[in-house]
Amino acid sequence: MDNIVLIGFMGSGKTGVGRELAELLSIPFYDMDEMLEQEAGMPIPEIFRLEGEEGFRRRESGLLKRLAEEKKDASAAVYSTGGGIVTREENIPLLKKLGTVIFFKVSPGTVMERIGNDASRPMLAGSGREERVRELMLLRTPMYLACADIVLAMDGYSKEENALRTKIVLQEHGCL
Ligand code: S3P
Repeated sequence: MDNIVLIGFMGSGKTGVGRELAELLSIPFYDMDEMLEQEAGMPIPEIFRLEGEEGFRRRESGLLKRLAEEKKDASAAVYSTGGGIVTREENIPLLKKLGTVIFFKVSPGTVMERIGNDASRPMLAGSGREERVRELMLLRTPMYLACADIVLAMDGYSKEENALRTKIVLQEHGCL
């Protein structure tokens, strides 16, 4: 089995559904945001504060490159990525190299419901949060689509349902 790489907007369920999916498949789960925080020894908002978005993206691309390169030595796993990973063009071939890429597609409404008041997302800091979500989503959707092997609409389902739906779609694509 190849790795499964989850991409999509903040609040699309990459981490929550990803964890469930890994459990269903009995394989490890890795959250790239968490790995980046561990490597940096600080939470993501602090990385943004000290190094700016540019610094964060440099770290993110560096980690992705290492994961893609080390892939041959590791057994299959589910990887959850940060919502902005597709904004660096160099990351697209690396994501594809890392494994089968699934785009978790959600609406701005779902994002607002899930992370509307969450202070841990520096990309949404400040006022006009809903506008920012819409704007970023519009900008990023073509990038997610360009990168994805599989697109799955996630609105309106529970985490458990979406994990099962993801497993089914992976089976249908012959990935399991
Ligand atoms: C970001 C999404 C976050 C995290 C960082 C930047 C983005 O990950 O990587 O705050 O630019 O969309 P999640 O998608 O897990 O929230």
